Amino acid sequence: MKNLFGVIGDPIAHSMSPAMQNAAFNMLGIDGCYHPFHIKPQDLEAGVRGMKAIGVQGFNVTIPHKTAIIPMLDGVDPLAQAIGAVNTVVREKDQWIGYNTDGKGYVRALREGYQEALENKQVLIIGAGGAARAIYYTLTSEQVTRIDLANRTLEKAKELVKRCPFPSDGAVLTVEEAAGQLEKYDIIIQTTSVGMAPNTEAVPIDLSRLNPKAFVSDIIYNPFETKLLKQAKQRRARTQNGLKMFVYQGALAFEKWTGAFPDTSKMEEIVRNQLGGK
Ligand code: ATR
Repeated sequence: MKNLFGVIGDPIAHSMSPAMQNAAFNMLGIDGCYHPFHIKPQDLEAGVRGMKAIGVQGFNVTIPHKTAIIPMLDGVDPLAQAIGAVNTVVREKDQWIGYNTDGKGYVRALREGYQEALENKQVLIIGAGGAARAIYYTLTSEQVTRIDLANRTLEKAKELVKRCPFPSDGAVLTVEEAAGQLEKYDIIIQTTSVGMAPNTEAVPIDLSRLNPKAFVSDIIYNPFETKLLKQAKQRRARTQNGLKMFVYQGALAFEKWTGAFPDTSKMEEIVRNQLGGK
């Protein structure tokens, strides 16, 4: 019998994880199957119990369940606990244990794209939501500490930094303040929803003072290239979209379930095709 895996969310029909994860099982010759499960918030607890009852070995968690699921699990990894969100659940000795591979997936994608040591680089993160928290806490957990945080709502950024369990030595800024000193940043990480389809003309920060040696990363992949990334390219900066983050969070989840790390370039190709072959 195939080992059963999946992803829970609401909505879930458009998730690209099933195609990507099933391809990973096929590529590695592992007898597994990954299915999307539409679970509404009011059914989450029953859903989590049901997944155990039918013998699911592990699953991903997406919007809107990443935080709500935490008290329903038997254990949560410390980094996921600090982030306050679980995107990967593993059945370990018949217990559900929660992890967060979003931050680690992002940092792995960043290291691959940037190709220089991240430690001691001056980083700016724009945004202070769940994605920013996963990235900020994971970077600081890997000794990348020089991180300034800019957000429309300053209080949320202050709270994020205050609750960070790892040493960090950056400032909290308004987006305008960050734009006013943009030349000092080696790496700029855009984590807000600004620029995402359908509002593709929106840009979260003014790039007039961008250092052309900077690396600009946007976690959005729909559109494939946000207006921010287009502007950064025009200013000769290197850029990266959110596709690799998505692929790596999936590959790291797959590794937790099976012990095998899949070929991420194949997975990336599959997701790229699903997005319309761009
Ligand atoms: P996610 O979990 O994807 O990070 P989130 O927790 O809702 O989503 O966070 C959204 C982020 O996008 C926040 O930083 C939010 O800014 P606020 O904290 O000020 O709300 C930011 N954001 C969303 N829409 C925005 C907009 N129109 N202008 C500026 N920032 C925006």
